[in-house]
Amino acid sequence: MTNLECSLCKKDYPAGTIQNLCSCGGPLLVRYDLDRAKATWSRDAVQQGPNTMWRYAPMLPVQAHEHIVSLGEGMTPLLRAPRAGKRIGANNLWIKDEGLNPTASFKARGLSCALSMCVELGIRKIAIPSAGNAASASAAYAAAAGVECHIFMPRDVPQANFIECKAYGAHVTLIDGLISDCGKIVASRKDAEGWFEVSTLKEPYRIEGKKTMGYELAEQLGWRLPDVIFYPTGGGVGLIGMWKAFAEMEAMGWIGSKRPKMISVQVEGCQPVVRAFQQGDTRSQFWDNATTVASGLRVPKPLGDFLVLDAVRQSGGTAIAVSDEELIDAGIQLAADEGMFVAPEGSACISALAKLLQSGFLKPDEEIVIYNTGAGLKYLEAYSTRYPRTGSSEQDKLGGLITPR
Ligand SMILES: Cc1ncc(COP(=O)(O)O)c(C=O)c1O
Ligand SMILES: [Zn+2]
Repeated sequence: MTNLECSLCKKDYPAGTIQNLCSCGGPLLVRYDLDRAKATWSRDAVQQGPNTMWRYAPMLPVQAHEHIVSLGEGMTPLLRAPRAGKRIGANNLWIKDEGLNPTASFKARGLSCALSMCVELGIRKIAIPSAGNAASASAAYAAAAGVECHIFMPRDVPQANFIECKAYGAHVTLIDGLISDCGKIVASRKDAEGWFEVSTLKEPYRIEGKKTMGYELAEQLGWRLPDVIFYPTGGGVGLIGMWKAFAEMEAMGWIGSKRPKMISVQVEGCQPVVRAFQQGDTRSQFWDNATTVASGLRVPKPLGDFLVLDAVRQSGGTAIAVSDEELIDAGIQLAADEGMFVAPEGSACISALAKLLQSGFLKPDEEIVIYNTGAGLKYLEAYSTRYPRTGSSEQDKLGGLITPR
């Protein structure tokens, strides 16, 4: 790491210092000495690293190895999905299953990196507004790092997120509102409380962890990229991170200049990026009354919207929304076809793919990778609407097997 650079005004900030946003309000991105990396590191050496995302440590911001806070995140499987592909007309479909990360979502990558940087920079207290899964991951990595963690999330987050955070010992506040309301509370209280704010893109390190999804994909495909990537977009950090990873890998001579079409997938009840894409805008507008069972996509105004839109446009991709009904159908069908029970955010991508094949935007033989960003097991409330129990007493009977009442 050489420095931090503002993604808007390009102002530089020194490495090794505690930073949030640039003074202009732009998110800061970590920059590296890519020439030196090219001379001293090679893609063949990656395999000698650990079987986690920390195998890419030379392109991550942590300077001292002992500061790394790892629970085994990354190196998730890239699985073929032949039956699901056949059903919707995609002959070359892969799913990168991020549900197998610690805390069962890709958020583990970003928070492993962010909490490692907290250890390195001596930060003792963090606060995070979250749509749900980032809260679970923060709570887990904060526990592993011995850092105090304050979480603000919507009252109606999936039960799994709430229980995980409590079990990991975080201070949890449930808010009658969305992640945007939670963000305002953190911003207003952080100075008085002495919290380091770990909001999406308001600190520079979560994106660095998430970008390893791009490195891994290239490594798992034998150092090449697919034709198309589907990414369920809330804050859009995973998509921005992968786009950054591709540029870094090209600069080090690991891949060529070919880029996948980046498809940003949102939901009908919250689609600020899709609307901006369709209107030809560079920034999104706040989406009013955001609602969806894909809770990770309930982000009404992503801070990095301009970076998402830029990557999608540069790549020749598109942005598309699906309904909650469609994504739950797609999730159930995928489970039966492939034995993968994915998060609604991941299943949204399957139904978006079906639409883009039908419209002719994508062709059946293109190599397509879908990111399933979380495990279906974290969303039992959403899926249980399709499988209601016959009587309310059945829940009691289940409990009774273990502790008779
Ligand atoms: C399961 C899941 N998928 C996708 C997202 C969106 O992530 P990003 O901020 O990278 O767009 C979230 C965010 O909470 C999530 O929990
Ligand atoms: Zn700036």
